Amino acid sequence: MSAAPLSLAILISGRGSNMAAIARSCAAHEIRATVACVASDRVGAPGLDTARALGIEAFTLTPAGFEARAAWEQALAERIDAARPSLVILAGFMRILGSGFVAHYRGRMLNIHPSLLPRYKGLHTHRRVLEAGDAMHGCSVHYVTDELDGGPVVAQGRIRVREDDDEERLSARVQAVEHILYPRTIGWIASGRLAWRTDRPLFDGQPLAAPVLEDFNGPEKR
Ligand code: GAR
Repeated sequence: MSAAPLSLAILISGRGSNMAAIARSCAAHEIRATVACVASDRVGAPGLDTARALGIEAFTLTPAGFEARAAWEQALAERIDAARPSLVILAGFMRILGSGFVAHYRGRMLNIHPSLLPRYKGLHTHRRVLEAGDAMHGCSVHYVTDELDGGPVVAQGRIRVREDDDEERLSARVQAVEHILYPRTIGWIASGRLAWRTDRPLFDGQPLAAPVLEDFNGPEKR
């Protein structure tokens, strides 16, 4: 008998479009994974309703009721672990997680970030790319470590910045790439192509020297 599908806990703070893209890939059997639960740190995150509409258990746990961040993180980890996921997926989860939480899920937690890491860690990445006049932009899927947006990057989707891009248009184009890249990367873990061994990622059995990079551009205009 083949192994059980990879079980996912997805953490969101807002819209949850990446969560929905992952859940739909699971439901369509494009990847051998299931979403065990969706958790939000914000009351009323729109992604909660989206998750429930997809038949997924979703809950909110805000830090507000806890005296210290560590206590909230412990409670969150207990709720997540009760769902017994193999992988924790940060999908637009906009809160920095402490070292205890990160250590608990080391090698079992991924994040997606809207830039070509290590460029533009942190917030407002699309605006900063436009201000810098960069030719290329994109998104990165990485394992989560203690360094903010700094864990090993495993996959990147790259797009060309267009002359008519503003922050909104650029963000929408990056998100469209995210919705392909994130499910695909999780699918690699589900199929055993990507694994965390001896504290680093292996891809097809080899240490990953550089992220798997794909261009999502059409032919270049001349
Ligand atoms: C995504 O674009 C994701 O890359 C970004 O938040 C958005 C969430 O959208 N994450 C970060 O900026 C993390 N530093 P979604 O809620 O619709 O998936």
